[in-house]
Amino acid sequence: MTLRVDLPQGGYDIVIERGVLAEAGKQLDLKRRCLVVTDDGVPAEYAATVAAACETATVVTLPCGEASKSLANFELLCRAMLEAELSRSDCVVAVGGGVVGDLAGFAAACYMRGIDFYNIPTTLLSQVDSSVGGKTAVDFCGVKNIIGAFHQPKKVLIDPNVLSTLHPRHVAAGLAEALKMGMTSDRTLYELFRQGKAREQIDKVIELALRIKISVVEQDEREGGLRRILNFGHTLGHGIEALQGEDGYYHGECVALGMIPMCGDGIRAELVEILDSLGLPTRLNVDLEEALAFADHDKKCEKGGVLVIRVDTVGEYIIEKLPLPLWKQMIRERMQEGKE
Ligand SMILES: NC(=O)c1ccc[n+]([C@@H]2O[C@H](COP(=O)([O-])OP(=O)(O)OC[C@H]3O[C@@H](n4cnc5c(N)ncnc54)[C@H](O)[C@@H]3O)[C@@H](O)[C@H]2O)c1
Repeated sequence: MTLRVDLPQGGYDIVIERGVLAEAGKQLDLKRRCLVVTDDGVPAEYAATVAAACETATVVTLPCGEASKSLANFELLCRAMLEAELSRSDCVVAVGGGVVGDLAGFAAACYMRGIDFYNIPTTLLSQVDSSVGGKTAVDFCGVKNIIGAFHQPKKVLIDPNVLSTLHPRHVAAGLAEALKMGMTSDRTLYELFRQGKAREQIDKVIELALRIKISVVEQDEREGGLRRILNFGHTLGHGIEALQGEDGYYHGECVALGMIPMCGDGIRAELVEILDSLGLPTRLNVDLEEALAFADHDKKCEKGGVLVIRVDTVGEYIIEKLPLPLWKQMIRERMQEGKE
């Protein structure tokens, strides 16, 4: 199946197909110099398959983990491109999760003021969310995604078969991001979760989540308004994430926790049940006040308050600006509820 992202400066295709990784040579224009970026947690054969299809490939394998989304690794990739003599008509291919995609995409956005970028996401989170939409970034001074650029991929290849090697905890974290999209925008997607069918119908989950992501990106490429709904659960989620070390909750797990207090009274208990059934956390493992304090520096906290996404009815969202103290109080009360 091919989904199309239509954008004013030219859109791109997302191919969702089991086995498509092996077709990279047919699907992508690799008859040029290619920088293939992956990490050492991704089975090496995935990047090797892509590299074998390139005319000239330079494969860079970074250490896995969020710490790799750094300016130092951005520099490393730029250096690799320079040494391999990539020109403006060459390309970067990411083969990995959101970390590899965000970093490689940012390097592609900057090298020679922007060269072609292909994304082959290999985690569920990156397949349903981060590989589409053109947000690229690195973390800096402990702040996530603070240096980055919008740079849309030329094409995205999604092969659900690669999820067979992904750790179940990472699968669950990706499901949290898909559930997030169902909560704000699609009752049908949410129903797959409510009926406990999300794992067995993973291809459908990927497709439905991407349809939402595409529609949001098409309407709001640069996150001026609507695209903020993708941040449902993220303000508190980022706070929780910022307090964790490498062994803490994953991004998707933090988003799962962050969604709980942003749901209306009528659906919160059901959400917690779904999260539980997916093996996602429903209890904080950090101090709530510290996580809330982090929101003071969040990009979504503009003058006069914090921009929050709330869901009172599944499939519908409310975007509103709340004074920071009010938002914090709401979170305290609703997170407290779960403990009783
Ligand atoms: N750009 C965006 O729009 C956007 C949206 C959401 C999240 N993100 C970013 O995405 C990142 C998180 O991405 P992630 O959850 O994919 O994490 P990740 O990239 O760190 O991947 C998770 C782990 O899975 C391993 N892995 C990847 N594919 C595998 C496979 N098929 N089999 C076995 N292991 C595999 C990786 O080596 C890594 O250890 C965060 O940095 C977040 O900020 C970006």
